[in-house]
Amino acid sequence: MNEPLIRVEGISKKFTGRDGTITTVFDDLHFAIEPGEFVCLIGHSGCGKTTILNVLSGLDQSSSGYVFVGGREVSGPSLDRAVIFQGHALMPWLTVMGNIAFAVSSRWPQWNKSKVRKHCQQYIDLVNLTGSEKKRPAELSGGMKQRVGIARALAIQPKMLLMDEPFSALDALTRGVLQEEVLRICAETRQTVFMITHDVDEAILLADKIILMTNGPRAKIAEIVVNTMPRSRTRHNLHKHPHYYRIRNHLIDFLVDRSKVFASDTPDYDPRHPPLVTPGPDPDEAVAAQMPKPALTGKPLAVVR
Ligand SMILES: Nc1ncnc2c1ncn2[C@@H]1O[C@H](COP(=O)(O)OP(=O)(O)O)[C@@H](O)[C@H]1O
Ligand SMILES: [Mg+2]
Repeated sequence: MNEPLIRVEGISKKFTGRDGTITTVFDDLHFAIEPGEFVCLIGHSGCGKTTILNVLSGLDQSSSGYVFVGGREVSGPSLDRAVIFQGHALMPWLTVMGNIAFAVSSRWPQWNKSKVRKHCQQYIDLVNLTGSEKKRPAELSGGMKQRVGIARALAIQPKMLLMDEPFSALDALTRGVLQEEVLRICAETRQTVFMITHDVDEAILLADKIILMTNGPRAKIAEIVVNTMPRSRTRHNLHKHPHYYRIRNHLIDFLVDRSKVFASDTPDYDPRHPPLVTPGPDPDEAVAAQMPKPALTGKPLAVVR
């Protein structure tokens, strides 16, 4: 079997409090991300999502377990993996072009100024910021700043894009526009993405697979939901597809109820192979279509409802 782009094997994270008590935030997580896949992680606040993203990026270390990128163990941050943070994290004294050029020059130090600018311009155009090259972050709206963050991350052509609730600080209208742009850009560039979100509709719009985390402490991956909606989906036609409400109800039901009561000690739960579920098709449809077995963890598809 081909090596996935990201392979996470049994990672756990423990923090020691001031009084010496040890809290295990999440425990024994296993998942993989294939090249070109868009994977979302959903779970309640505090279950360790940001910590997982930091471990994947190499900015933090897990207490146990391993993360492999292209078969090699992660030992620290790398330009292989670009992070888009919740806040935009732009350098306020640099222009839009300057912020992106800074990252591009670090990635390709041998490039001359005009090559760097030409490369940056492609990504400025890609995120629809043409004409704003000379503006500084203080002159930009929240949505524009986040676009600069996206352009900067994509411009270094990372193997993996890691996003931590990138649209959560934006108003609903801007969020919708940016979600569609990310969908278009990822389709065009076949970018592999790992994204944390609180927003069920955002996950259904963007993700191929949605990892569901139980509440902490000792948070687990309860299951991985396969998005069976066609990749040609848009924000406007999403809700017209018959799979949409089934997937949405399944995710909401998880967040409202099952994330609290999920019991990992049931005999048929194996953390190394979290169940891969397809709530989208109705059961007869799923059988008739003979859905191919996803490559993620090798466990056969189960329809859970
Ligand atoms: N450096 C740290 N020291 C101690 N506890 C931490 C630290 N970083 C995160 N935590 C704790 O770990 C838990 C998970 O945090 P986080 O990954 O930010 O969760 P999420 O992103 O899912 O909201 C929280 O309870 C948080 O208080
Ligand atoms: Mg977080």
